[in-house]
Amino acid sequence: MLEQIVQIVSNERSTDSYYRLVVRAPQIAPRIQPGQFAHVRILPMKDALLRRPFSIFQVEGDTFSILYKTVGKGTVALARMQSGEELSVIAPLGHGFTVPQPGAETPLLVAGGYGMAAMYLLARRSPQKGIVFVGGRRRVDILCEREFQDLGWEVRVTTEDGSHGEKGLVTQPLLAELKSAQRGRKLFACGPTPMLQAVGKIAGEHDVPAELSMDEHMCCGVGVCLTCVIRVRSGDTWEYRRTCTEGPVFDARDVVWEEAR
Ligand SMILES: Cc1cc2nc3c(=O)[nH]c(=O)nc-3n(C[C@H](O)[C@H](O)[C@H](O)COP(=O)(O)OP(=O)(O)OC[C@H]3O[C@@H](n4cnc5c(N)ncnc54)[C@H](O)[C@@H]3O)c2cc1C
Ligand code: FES
Repeated sequence: MLEQIVQIVSNERSTDSYYRLVVRAPQIAPRIQPGQFAHVRILPMKDALLRRPFSIFQVEGDTFSILYKTVGKGTVALARMQSGEELSVIAPLGHGFTVPQPGAETPLLVAGGYGMAAMYLLARRSPQKGIVFVGGRRRVDILCEREFQDLGWEVRVTTEDGSHGEKGLVTQPLLAELKSAQRGRKLFACGPTPMLQAVGKIAGEHDVPAELSMDEHMCCGVGVCLTCVIRVRSGDTWEYRRTCTEGPVFDARDVVWEEAR
């Protein structure tokens, strides 16, 4: 983990309210593992002390990128920044996904909205190709479909309004796939909490291993403030774990969801 001032290479609108930011970070880029995140201080912001966490999307040479959605003052300020300007980042942070071993289970990736960003490096570094299930509310929420196809992965799209792919939730085609006769699959998921909970439940019912990247609000990002804790099984009971340092990726069998507490 390094704290560095990095320079913006590009910061471009992708679709609707989604942007792609590329920064030059020669010391950070080679250390990044799939599912890890960067904690970004947006220097032009008034209360710039509070950092914002973003999954690391792509790594190319001495650069890395994030894919972000403008939702509030931090991301709106970030969207106004231009190439040549500087950001402070702490990265790479967190415990990411387990990259499949050669000949291991076929990976099935499940992503909702900006959750796609956390999945790309995993797909790129996985020795075997699998299927990416991607869901969103509308067509504009479906990100990076082309990038995954270019890696040779099959992409199955769902939108809630039916404007692209199958109409409905991302768990529908996932369930259909798991009901097919094949064995030896492993799920990896990143997206909104209700989606993660649904994927965890499906994985349990079909006895399929699953890793979930939990989306919790974060403050310090380095294990000090305890803003980001979730409950994780420990023997017959549970204990709090910090998603910023012990996650964000957890084994689905270990996560204790709200309704189960
Ligand atoms: C490990 C991790 C990885 C993330 N990766 C990405 C990514 O790749 N791309 C991306 O666009 N966003 C990602 N996020 C969410 C991102 O950090 C927030 O959207 C961002 O901090 C909002 O900052 P803001 O100042 O614009 O919004 P604020 O003004 O702080 O808040 C605006 C709205 O966004 C909501 N919000 C804030 N944080 C989160 C969160 N963690 N999850 C859901 N809603 C939130 C607030 O509740 C509020 O409704 C990630 C979050 C985590 C914890
Ligand atoms: S965000 Fe501070 S402990 Fe995790």
